[in-house]
Amino acid sequence: MDKLRERRNLFILGVAIATSGLALYYMLSKKKKKLTIDQQLNLDRDKLHIINRIKDKYHISYENMVKIKGHILSEFQLGLQKVDGESQSSIKMLPTFITKKPNGTEEGICYALDVGGTNARAIKVKLDGNGKAEILETRKQVIPSSLMNGRGDDLFDFLAACLSDVLDEGAERYSIGFTFSFPVDQRNVRSGYLIKWTKGFNTSDVTGKDVVKLLDQALERAGIKAEITVLINDTVGTLIASSYLNTEHETIAGIILGTGSNAAYVEKQSSIEKLDEKDNDGIMVINTEWGNFDSPLYKYLIPTEQDIMLDKDSINFSQQHFEKMISGMYLGEIVRLELMELSESSLFRHNNSENILKPYHFGTEMMSEIEKDNTPTLSNIESFLSKLSIPNTTYFERKLLKELCTAVSVRSARLVAAAIAAIVEKVGKIDEHCIVAVDGSLYELYPNYADNIKNALNEMGYSKVILKLTKDGSGIGAALAAAVLSNE
Ligand code: BGC
Repeated sequence: MDKLRERRNLFILGVAIATSGLALYYMLSKKKKKLTIDQQLNLDRDKLHIINRIKDKYHISYENMVKIKGHILSEFQLGLQKVDGESQSSIKMLPTFITKKPNGTEEGICYALDVGGTNARAIKVKLDGNGKAEILETRKQVIPSSLMNGRGDDLFDFLAACLSDVLDEGAERYSIGFTFSFPVDQRNVRSGYLIKWTKGFNTSDVTGKDVVKLLDQALERAGIKAEITVLINDTVGTLIASSYLNTEHETIAGIILGTGSNAAYVEKQSSIEKLDEKDNDGIMVINTEWGNFDSPLYKYLIPTEQDIMLDKDSINFSQQHFEKMISGMYLGEIVRLELMELSESSLFRHNNSENILKPYHFGTEMMSEIEKDNTPTLSNIESFLSKLSIPNTTYFERKLLKELCTAVSVRSARLVAAAIAAIVEKVGKIDEHCIVAVDGSLYELYPNYADNIKNALNEMGYSKVILKLTKDGSGIGAALAAAVLSNE
């Protein structure tokens, strides 16, 4: 009997030892697996140091964010003042002569032509009078680079043709809202003189001219009977569209975060010192053109070597410094310039791919793909890079690339948050819930970008701001503005 018990005890002991052995082996092997990845980084102080250096280089601290907000606010104020000659502000603060926002009751069929950064889009919109807008027809065309750098008349003929595709046949005359997303000097809603091109455009014979007249002439050449009822910026369209679509809170601003970047907001006419005639109880939408903040000299932003290089080689040197740090057209180029430098010191050994060698061949949409990868070995990045003819990257190279993309995109989001905070402060809405309408591919599609702006706003104490994606706002807004004006 004793022997039997002894054997059973021995058996139980054996099972216990085997089980804990297995458990220990499992734990160790898990740890070992983790080590193989971390080994390449955490245990290698030099590599960790390189990654941290990149992170620091693009980091905007809380203190800097608050300082930049203050400088933007001062430039806003300066830009509204009356001056003899050129304004001292790098932010133009352009009056738009839009003095009314829609209230949701507008109805009817409207047309709009929306000329942005990369595309031209014509739309036919139905407003149902209940705060709903439905796009019935749309015609979107990429603006060929030959037209971005060609003759003005050719560009406007192309735009007229795009518009004619959505107009109903047989109508006597059409009323059209025209969204033109470049800085224009306006004296009323029906005209605007191009101040300068941005976003890579360099079409001749347009700067200094009335773009409504140029479109009118092109429509006439095409035999289309149409009247341009209103000319607006895309930020103004976004603001107007959100005022119609979101009536639960007041929309105070419209922002574009796409190829380019800019903001429009609602100002009291009494605060727009430079307006010759004003209704002191009225409002007017101001197109800030914040993309030019801190130009021509960097006084407040801290550019990296790569920012300076990008600016120097751009077709609009010493202009749009803020835009060049935040918008979709430029973020990929900043990353590419960093990769070129890293490859010189063999930290990223893949400088023979076109995407790394050629300016603007590493797009912001590629950064987006890279930041999306949360696999433990960053294997999605590996296959993505292989498709770009960048094969056989090491884990360290992939990790470095991902951290670089994050550093550049988070810097953009924190700078944008500082600028939004400046608007909220300008209109005195820090303690109220208010909507800031946002459109643009960077905001809509880039992983974590919208959250990064929101978090930075919370960090600065602007937690009541509601950021609202307002898709197609620029086009719908133009159609709405045309409807509001035709009701007058
Ligand atoms: C233009 C603005 C425009 C913004 C977004 C900037 O480059 O100067 O007028 O609103 O891009 O499209």
